[in-house]
Amino acid sequence: MAVNSEQTADRKAMGKIINRYPPERRYILAIMQDLQKQFNYLPKDALQMTAEYVNTPMSVVYSMATFYKAFSLVPKGRVVLKTCDGTACHIKGSNIIIDEIYKTLGIRPGETTADGDFSLETVNCLGACALAPVLVANDRVYPKVTPASLREIIEENRGRRDESTERE
Ligand code: FES
Repeated sequence: MAVNSEQTADRKAMGKIINRYPPERRYILAIMQDLQKQFNYLPKDALQMTAEYVNTPMSVVYSMATFYKAFSLVPKGRVVLKTCDGTACHIKGSNIIIDEIYKTLGIRPGETTADGDFSLETVNCLGACALAPVLVANDRVYPKVTPASLREIIEENRGRRDESTERE
C-alpha cells in the first residue's frame, strides 16, 4: 500500500475509534486506550484528531498521553516483551534474560526490532515473585524463564499479534 493511502486508511481507522465515544473531554483516556490498542502506539494525528473531537487543547491531550506509562508515542512491536526487574527476579537472573533477548533479537529495553515484531520493556515487580524470573509477552505470563525457554517463547510469539487487536 502506498504511503498516502496507508495514511488515509489509518486516519479512517482513527476516526472510527474516536467516533465510538461522545465528544466529551472525559472520554479522552478511553479513546487513547483504544487507539493504543489498535496502533500499538499513539500516532500524532490520532492525538490531534482526539483533541479536535473533544474540543480540548492538544497540550492537554499530549500531557495525558505522556503521563500514563501504558501509552507510547513511538511505535511499539506487535509483541511487547516485559521482563520483570524487581528484586526477586533480579536475584534469579533477569539480567541474563535481558542479555539473552539482546543476543536473540538485538534489542535493549526501550527498543523495537526493525521488523516491528518485538519491543522490550522492563517493569518492576509483577506480583509473581515465586515464579521469578518472570517475562510477559503481551498478555501471556511466562514463569521461571531460562535462556533456553526464552528462545522458545520468542519463537512462539514471533509474528503474533494481540488476538483482541486481530479481531478489530
Ligand atoms: S520481582 Fe519479579 S515478580 Fe516480583
